[in-house]
Order: sequence, then C-alpha cells, then structure tokens
Amino acid sequence: MVVPYKHEPFTDFSVEENRKAIEEAIAKVESDLGKEYPLIIGGERIMTDDKIEVVNPANRKEVIGYVSKTNRDLAEKAHKIADETFEWWRKSDASLRADILFRAAAIVRRRKHEFTAHLIKEGGKPWKEADADTAEAIDFMEYYARQMLRIDEGVEVNSRPIENNRFHYIPLGVGVVISPWNFLFAIMCGTTVASMVSGNTVLLKPASATPIIAYKMMEVLEEAGLPAGVINYVPGSGKEVGDYLVDHPRTRFVSFTGSREVGTRIFERAAKVQDGQKWLKRTIIEMGGKDTIVVDNESDLELAADAITYSAFGFSGQKCSACSRVVAHEDVYDELLERVVEKTKKEVKYGDPTDNSFYMGPVIDQGAYDKILGYISTGKEEGRLMHGGKGDNSKGWFIEPTIFADVDPEATIMQEEIFGPVVAFTKANSFEEAIDIANNTDYGLTGAVITNNRQHLEQARQDFHVGNLYFNRGCTAAIVGYHPFGGFNMSGTDSKAGGPDYLLHHMQPKTTSEML
Ligand code: NAD
Ligand code: ALA
Repeated sequence: MVVPYKHEPFTDFSVEENRKAIEEAIAKVESDLGKEYPLIIGGERIMTDDKIEVVNPANRKEVIGYVSKTNRDLAEKAHKIADETFEWWRKSDASLRADILFRAAAIVRRRKHEFTAHLIKEGGKPWKEADADTAEAIDFMEYYARQMLRIDEGVEVNSRPIENNRFHYIPLGVGVVISPWNFLFAIMCGTTVASMVSGNTVLLKPASATPIIAYKMMEVLEEAGLPAGVINYVPGSGKEVGDYLVDHPRTRFVSFTGSREVGTRIFERAAKVQDGQKWLKRTIIEMGGKDTIVVDNESDLELAADAITYSAFGFSGQKCSACSRVVAHEDVYDELLERVVEKTKKEVKYGDPTDNSFYMGPVIDQGAYDKILGYISTGKEEGRLMHGGKGDNSKGWFIEPTIFADVDPEATIMQEEIFGPVVAFTKANSFEEAIDIANNTDYGLTGAVITNNRQHLEQARQDFHVGNLYFNRGCTAAIVGYHPFGGFNMSGTDSKAGGPDYLLHHMQPKTTSEML
C-alpha cells in the first residue's frame, strides 16, 4: 500500500544547518562547471561537435556547461528507438512505472540541495524559488506515480448477463515533450514523467537556456531503473529539432509548455496529417499569461500589497502565473499603490542569487533583457513610472522591479505578456468593472481577488475567467495535487498539471466486450 500523497515541504533557510548545506552544494556545483554533456538516445551517450553553451544568467561569463545538440539524423534515430521501445513498454506494469518514479523522487529528495544549487546557477533562481522548483519536481513524480496506480485500477462499466465488459486506459505512443526554462526542473520533469508513467515513450527536448538539469534528471531516472529508450534526451534548436519531431508522422502526441508564439505554431503543425500518419496527433499545449490581481474597496490592503509584490517580482516576474496587472477599486487605489511601491523599495533587492539576501535575481538571457526593457520603454509612454525602469547587463541580465501607475486597461503593457519584473496598475470604479477589466485579455491563466466581501468572492468565482483563481492570496505558487494548474483561452489547453485527470491526456480509453 502506498502512503497518501503529501507535498514536499519547503526548506527553511533561516536554519543554520540548511543554510550551510545549500552553501556547500553551491560550492560543489561551482567546482563542476564547464563540463560537456552528451545526448541520450536508447541509453547510448552521444557527444556531438555542435554544442549549446549554457551560461549563468547572473554572470554570463560563467559557463555552466556545454550540451550536445541534436541534429535531424539524431532526432530520427531517437524517434525510431522511441517507437520500437513503445512496442514493449506499452505493456509494462503500471506498478513498475510508478516504482521508478517513487525511487527517483527519493533519490532527488536525498540530494535535494545539490539540485537546488544547480537551479540557482543554471536558472538564476533565488534560493527560495530554486528550492520550490526542486520540491515541485519531487511532487510531480510522487503524485503522478500514485495517479497511475489509481487509473490502473480501472473504471467500472455495466455488463449485461450475457457479456463481460471492461473499460481501461492504454497509452498513446511516442510523445514529444518540449519544456520551458522558467521551471527548468519542475515543468520539464512533470511533463516528461507524466508521459512516461502513462506507458508512452518520450523524446525530451528541454529549453536551450536550461538543458543541463534535464540531463541530471535522466541520470536519476536511470539510477531508479528506467529502461533504455523509454525517455530519450534530445536537446537542440526549437526550429530545427522541434519542428522535425512535431511534424514526424510517428509522433502520437506533443506536450508543450512555453510561449503563445511557439505553442500556436506547434498546434498548427501538429494538426497537419503527414504522409503515412495513422492518427490525429494529441496536443497538450500550455502557454503564457497576463495575470491580474483585483483589489476591492473592502479589503486588507497590507495583504493585497504583499500578494502583489511577491506575485509580481518573485523569480523576476518570470512565471506564467506572475501578477503583471493590478486592478484596484478607486477608493483604495492610491493607498494600495503607495504601499506596493514602499514594500518593493524596502524588500525587493536584486543581485546574484547565490547570495540569499537578494529577493530577485537576473532575467534569463539577452533576448529577455531586451524584450523586457522594450516593454518598460512602452510603459513610460503608457503610464506613470513609480519605481524601477532600468536594467544593467554589464555582468548578468538584471532589471529593476518596475511599477507603472494609471495605465489604460487596453494599453500594450496591460495586454501583452512581458515575462519580467514589471507590474502595471489601473483603476476601476466598481467590483463589476474590475472583473471586466481582469477578463479583457486573450489569456486566462491565473488571477487573484483580494476582498472581505463574500458576495464579491462568489461573483468572481463565476465570472473571473481564469484556470487558477485565488482568493485573498497571491496568484503564483500552485502546489501539485493541491492547486491543479493550467489556463483558459490563449493560456493553453487547461490540461491541469498536478491534477487528478492530467495523465488521462496522455492515454486513450479502450472498451472490450466478451460474449459469455
Ligand atoms: P518558448 O516558447 O520560447 O520555448 C519553449 C520551448 O519550445 C523551448 O524548449 C524551446 O526550445 C521550444 N521551441 C522553440 N521553438 C520551437 C519550435 N519551432 N518547435 C518546437 N519547439 C520549439 O518559451 P520559454 O521562453 O521557454 O518559456 C516562457 C514561456 O512559457 C512564457 O510565455 C510562459 O508564460 C510560458 N509558461 C507557461 C506555463 C504554463 O503552465 N502555462 C508554465 C511555464 C511557462
Ligand atoms: N506552478 C507555477 C505557479 O503556480 C507556474 O506559479
């Protein structure tokens, strides 16, 4: 009997022992920098000449490692192996697949700080954020293993006296998993192991900014007993390898998490039936957000200011769930704005995240840095700059936490995903108007409402159209198995990662009926 699922606790870094442990782990990661990493295809390590250079976003001269790049021939080889492996893996016991994940979760848990230290370096994550990323990866393994065992129990259907009917779920086939860099461990791990534990074989293409953590996860899964060929590690260029794998006629499904631009491209390409293709590809596509915190006139403004500050600037706003818009009732607008500005000035310091005194680290790369500063420059025309607004890329890619006031709800910085430490405020004259403004983007991922008015909470429950709606708290930090996560509209297919029906997106139900 498996013990009930509980989420992995977060590390308290005010405890001397934990602080020391992470500092030692950071020093160990630093002594390992600059290594070369191969692809893993059918269990074989393949080193290519062409490499992805992975750098520390807080110090771009520091190379974390060099990762082999998959070309089309190697992508084809990996696809063939995944296809062949599926023939026997699809019949493997669910309990064997779950056991691999239970063991892998235990291995990561034992070496937790080592993974967290790596995330600080490869992803530029502050300690707390990196620790949460590691915890979430463990949670995905623990949770999906249990979900698979539950699904394996089958679902009852009726049988007439002359027949024996059964209904059960079988896997789909070869899945292409394409993951983003922001939850470099958690989302990469969750989407990969969900595909695998459901009985599929996988081609894993991690984000090019953060492919090393995926190699480390492969090592853990192998140590836990994952057979060769079940998950194949194929980092490479999105356009070259990504398109090839998505288009491949033997790809059965694509699990993508990333931007709207790439997600919609994959959705279109996967819809095309290629020569020799025998199925319609399944797509699980989770994309960006433009997430709003609504603050009502009857609300705790200190709680609201906390929720906004930490949801906007946690991990430099580089979360699909980050708060990038605040809609405040006109009665409390000025006071709330002042509190958020003060709190940000006082509490949101930024710098190299190996130093735990900084709340915020860098943004991920030069592309992100340029894009965010571009939006800040637009913001200066669209609103009143209250705080921040500058960047410094002399060593790493750092941008000040930035706050704009009095922005029109239809303005660019109120509509487009910035994916950086920028939040814009707008005013509403009623709760109804605030909800209308909150719903006025193409997205629908997360949102929060801060109010003490029960009727308004119930109204928001019905009318605020987002996949993850939070009351009297911030809009980030969903926990696997507690807050199933995914968005509406252009935020994606709302597959709800970490939810009770997530694995079913990777499977198909089969009915058998025997006449007695
Ligand atoms: P991205 O779309 O740039 O990249 C995501 C992945 O797609 C990477 O692995 C990339 O290499 C790959 N890719 C790029 N071009 C491709 C192509 N033509 N074919 C196939 N793959 C291709 O996104 P990102 O910058 O890594 O991540 C940030 C984005 O992800 C933000 O928009 C954020 O909101 C979103 N996100 C969403 C969720 C969610 O659950 N909804 C979670 C995390 C991040
Ligand atoms: N699961 C992440 C959050 O809720 C994206 O912030």
